[in-house]
Amino acid sequence: MPDLDDREELIQYYCQRAPEYEQIYYRDMPERRREIDDEIARLQELCKDKSVLDIPCGTGYWTAIMQDSADQIVAADLSREMLAEASGRIRNEKVSLVQADINKPPFATGAFDLVALGFWLSHHPRQHFVTLFESLKRLIKPAGKIWMIENNPPAEGDRPESFGSDKHGNNFKERFLDSGKRFVIMKNYFSEEEIRELLSANFRIERLTYGKYYWSAVLLSPDSPS
Ligand SMILES: C[S@@+](CC[C@H](N)C(=O)[O-])C[C@H]1O[C@@H](n2cnc3c(N)ncnc32)[C@H](O)[C@@H]1O
Repeated sequence: MPDLDDREELIQYYCQRAPEYEQIYYRDMPERRREIDDEIARLQELCKDKSVLDIPCGTGYWTAIMQDSADQIVAADLSREMLAEASGRIRNEKVSLVQADINKPPFATGAFDLVALGFWLSHHPRQHFVTLFESLKRLIKPAGKIWMIENNPPAEGDRPESFGSDKHGNNFKERFLDSGKRFVIMKNYFSEEEIRELLSANFRIERLTYGKYYWSAVLLSPDSPS
C-alpha cells in the first residue's frame, strides 16, 4: 500500500496513462454515455460567459466541452504529459494551459466564476477534503460556483475490486496501463447520502445529480450572495 500522502504513484500513473486516458469516455456502454452527454449539456450552460478554472484538466476533455460557451478558461494539471495531450486538442485563444498542483493552486483569490473539478475528489485524501474545499472557495468570486463530476462503481466495468483501505477510509484500486504496467492508486466512491452530507457541510448545494454511473454537483460558498 503506498504512503497516502505520497502522491507520486498517482501522478506517475496519470503521466504514463496520458495517451490512453480518454478510453474511459468511450467504452461501449450507451446508458453510461447518456449520463455523460446529459452532463455535457448542463456544463455548457453553466459555464456560459464565465471565467473558468478547469483543474485538473487532464487531456482537456471537459475544457474542450466548455471552450465555446465560456469566456476564458485556465486549464491546469500537474502532469506535463496530460497538458501535452490537451494542447494537441485545444487550439483556442480563450484557453490557457498551465502546469499547477491542485494542492497549491497558484491563482489569485476570487479569480474565477467557476472552478471545474473533473474526476478529482475521488483521488483526494479524505483527511484533506476540508483543506481542498477551503482552497476552492478562495478561488471563486463571491457568487462563483464549483462544479464536480465523479464516477460510481458501475462505471468501472469489470474491475470493481478494492485493493484495500487505510485508517482514514480511503479506498485503493489497482490500475493497469495497456502495456500491463500496474499501479495502486487512491480511488474513493461516495454513496448519495455520503456525498450530500459531505458537500452540504462545506457548501450550499445548487444541484446534486446522482446517477447510476456518475454523480455531479454545482456548489456555492455558504457565504455566497446569490
Ligand atoms: C482522473 S484524471 C481527471 C482529468 C480530467 N479532469 C477529466 O475529467 O478527464 C486526474 C488528473 O489529475 C492530475 N493530477 C494528479 N495529481 C495532481 C495534482 N496534485 N495537481 C494537479 N493535477 C493532478 C492527473 O495528471 C490527471 O490528469
